[in-house]
Amino acid sequence: MIYRTHNLGELRLSDVGTLVTLSGWIDTLREHKEVTFVDLRDREGKTQIVFIPEVSGNELVKISKKLKQESVLRIVGEVIERHSKNPNMSTGEIEVLVKELKILNDCDVLPFQISSIDTNLNENVRLTYRYLDIRRNRMLNNLKMRHKMLMVIRNYMDKEGFLDIDTPLLTKSTPEGARDFLVPSRTNPGNFFALPQSPQLFKQLLMISGIEKYYQIAKCFRDEDLRADRQPEFTQLDIEMSFVDQNQLMDTIEGLAKKVFSEITEEEVDYKFPRMKYSEAMERFGSDKPDTRFGVELKDISDIVKNSNFKAFTSTIENNGVVKAIVAPGAIDKFSRKVLGEYEEHAKTYFGAKGMAYIKITENGIESPISKFLTEDQLNEIVNKMEAKKNDVILIIADKIKIVYGALGALRLKIGNDLNLIDNNKFNFLWVVDFPMFSYDEEEKRYKAEHHPFTSIKEEDMENFLAGETEKIRTNTYDMVLNGFEIGGGSIRIFNPEIQRKVFDRLGLSPEETKIKFGFFLDAFKYGAPPHGGLAFGIDRWLMVMLKEASIRDVIPFPKTNKGQCLMTEAPNLVDDDQLKELYLESTYKNLNN
Ligand code: AMO
Repeated sequence: MIYRTHNLGELRLSDVGTLVTLSGWIDTLREHKEVTFVDLRDREGKTQIVFIPEVSGNELVKISKKLKQESVLRIVGEVIERHSKNPNMSTGEIEVLVKELKILNDCDVLPFQISSIDTNLNENVRLTYRYLDIRRNRMLNNLKMRHKMLMVIRNYMDKEGFLDIDTPLLTKSTPEGARDFLVPSRTNPGNFFALPQSPQLFKQLLMISGIEKYYQIAKCFRDEDLRADRQPEFTQLDIEMSFVDQNQLMDTIEGLAKKVFSEITEEEVDYKFPRMKYSEAMERFGSDKPDTRFGVELKDISDIVKNSNFKAFTSTIENNGVVKAIVAPGAIDKFSRKVLGEYEEHAKTYFGAKGMAYIKITENGIESPISKFLTEDQLNEIVNKMEAKKNDVILIIADKIKIVYGALGALRLKIGNDLNLIDNNKFNFLWVVDFPMFSYDEEEKRYKAEHHPFTSIKEEDMENFLAGETEKIRTNTYDMVLNGFEIGGGSIRIFNPEIQRKVFDRLGLSPEETKIKFGFFLDAFKYGAPPHGGLAFGIDRWLMVMLKEASIRDVIPFPKTNKGQCLMTEAPNLVDDDQLKELYLESTYKNLNN
């Protein structure tokens, strides 16, 4: 059977008089006396089909009155010019008079309206019936964009001479900072594979293999706390190159970013992406992925308040902490005591700040709960330094530097959103470079790699590193940031095995542990490793930002919830004891819960 001669976005005035066969879903149904109008829909669009007694016959008209939304039809009919044209439909100038009808499949009662443009549909219902959600225009469009993005990437990478090479999913874990998803091996009792957090080690090994330019659209798996821009299973564009310096590499990647961006958003980026040092990003924006579409920058007021009578400030400074502030412009009416309380709570709950002070610049001068602890001069100096004007509110946090950056960085974003300071039509790209090699984990009381342990150290810091310094060692790293989201990150790698060993050592790995975890990797470096570097983009996150979606789930066909579940398949699920036994596993969870 021929199901279609045309798709449903295709017919135009020039097709008038043609006999066509069309198939698709019933998007909407309208009745007008004897006549039934149906918008039939497929992936490409909608076409109005009409049942009228003179052409369709009484029997078909009768059947048409019983049709249900989202049933699947095949019709044969004649294209005619429409009386009342619909300029909002690509096929709005014509309609098709139905001569034959076959109901290919009926649709049951729907959990939600497919044709509805309601963006507030309950997400759990959408995820449970994802196959229906994808019928909706918004999701369909997002998936088309995802396809387009991948095509643009593949074409660009091919043209630039990159080879698309895939790497295993059953592998040994790569340390990217998250927990691994483990897969038990039946054939190797007691042993586990890890699903890759990224193909990092393999792509570096491919450079040792002489591949020179590698890329892959790679699935990555990270068992970490989920947020609006994170999924446990996500997709990277993973890239690695040999014999290039950092600038050449960044230029190649920037070229790709511009191409993808212009194809997806239909806007050009006509500037070279600014490069901002990590230290500057933290100092000015309290974030290593600053949203530079608005100001509200952090300023240090430690010097002004160090001799005040406010213990919270002075003792913080004595203990090597800092006092920093931001200005909420014109916020005085909005920032009631209650709202300021919410801001403080935000800083406390999510960033461990001890508190938040504020100063309001009112009609009648400065008002602040801490004004009794500061001299008039000190208050004025703060206002001057912050360049605060009448009706502004200054928010102040005193704490360890990490906490201050975290809290003020987040409050800055909250101010940007709450006071509508962000131009949502704007896209700002930027590179953040020179990340530190190590950061101290207060909870685990040890140093961790800020990016990953394969990142090379800046030449000017190498001497200090070799001399035992850990704190202030900077690396040849670059993150690409778009509107405050880290959409990609990479580095020039260590290619000297001795330096690599020293980095592992500094991370607290004993030579034995290093051998067990990375022996094969370090071995490979003995056989002539070329200088190399690369980067990985988060495809989903990047697309989310370009499409201005609030959640990464809206650009992923079958995503997981924030609890890491697939509501449609109900994965993860319990498995039979027999299945566990075969894998030499036993569930301790059951015991815990009995
Ligand atoms: P990194 O860990 O920075 O680097 O990851 C690269 C990019 O992947 C995206 N991303 C995520 N997207 C969705 N959900 C997640 N859970 C998630 N985690 C990361 C981000 C991020 O910028 N191997 C290195 C790259 C390299 O050095 O070449 C790596 O994976 O957009």
